[in-house]
Amino acid sequence: MMETIIENAKIFAKEIFSADRSGHDYYHTLRVHALARTIAQAEGADLFLVELAALLHDVDDHKLSPETAEGKLRAMEFLHSQSVDQGQIDAIIHIVDQVSFSRNTLPPDTLEARCVQDADRLDAMGAIGIARTFAFGGSHGRAIFDPIGEDKGSSIAHFYDKLLLLKDRINTPIAKAMAQRRHDFLVAFLDEFHQEWRAEI
Ligand code: ADP
Ligand code: NI
Repeated sequence: MMETIIENAKIFAKEIFSADRSGHDYYHTLRVHALARTIAQAEGADLFLVELAALLHDVDDHKLSPETAEGKLRAMEFLHSQSVDQGQIDAIIHIVDQVSFSRNTLPPDTLEARCVQDADRLDAMGAIGIARTFAFGGSHGRAIFDPIGEDKGSSIAHFYDKLLLLKDRINTPIAKAMAQRRHDFLVAFLDEFHQEWRAEI
């Protein structure tokens, strides 16, 4: 029964995200789901809540498209249609709310939300984080890099503004270990990028 609901949530997410090319495609949702599951198992968090929240975590993201502004309502309707009980729906929506606030500096107040937030942050780091950043930048008309420094919105600037800070904002011990490797890869990539840019390699 719980497995069926999770499978149906994947289908629901696939319908919403399959056409996205801004770094939030369906596979982002699937990766966050898999990472959140691993983290939740290590942390002893409620797996059912974590898995559903991970699969639905971006449906209300206003950055995506005007249509997804209604995503949370649709997510709630979806959960009702699967006969998830109201207490669990409230808990899932609470997790999604806490994960969505990327500027939030305080850690989420539930273990389940801390697991999903870590998973979402891990997917913004490492090789995949790099790929997503340039996909997002391209789809939003951002420059790859601006050596003059006039264009604060370049994709490379985003590494310094956000991606390199994520390592120290991870909540759980298991995700911290995974984050270190991904962080080191970001640093190595930036080193290489700047060397090539200066035509040193
Ligand atoms: P999520 O909602 O999944 O946490 P975001 O919406 O914050 O992710 O970002 C989606 C992807 O796009 C991430 O990989 C992120 O690093 C990248 N991104 C977000 N903002 C920018 C930006 N200003 N420039 C380049 N990439 C960005
Ligand atoms: Ni996300």
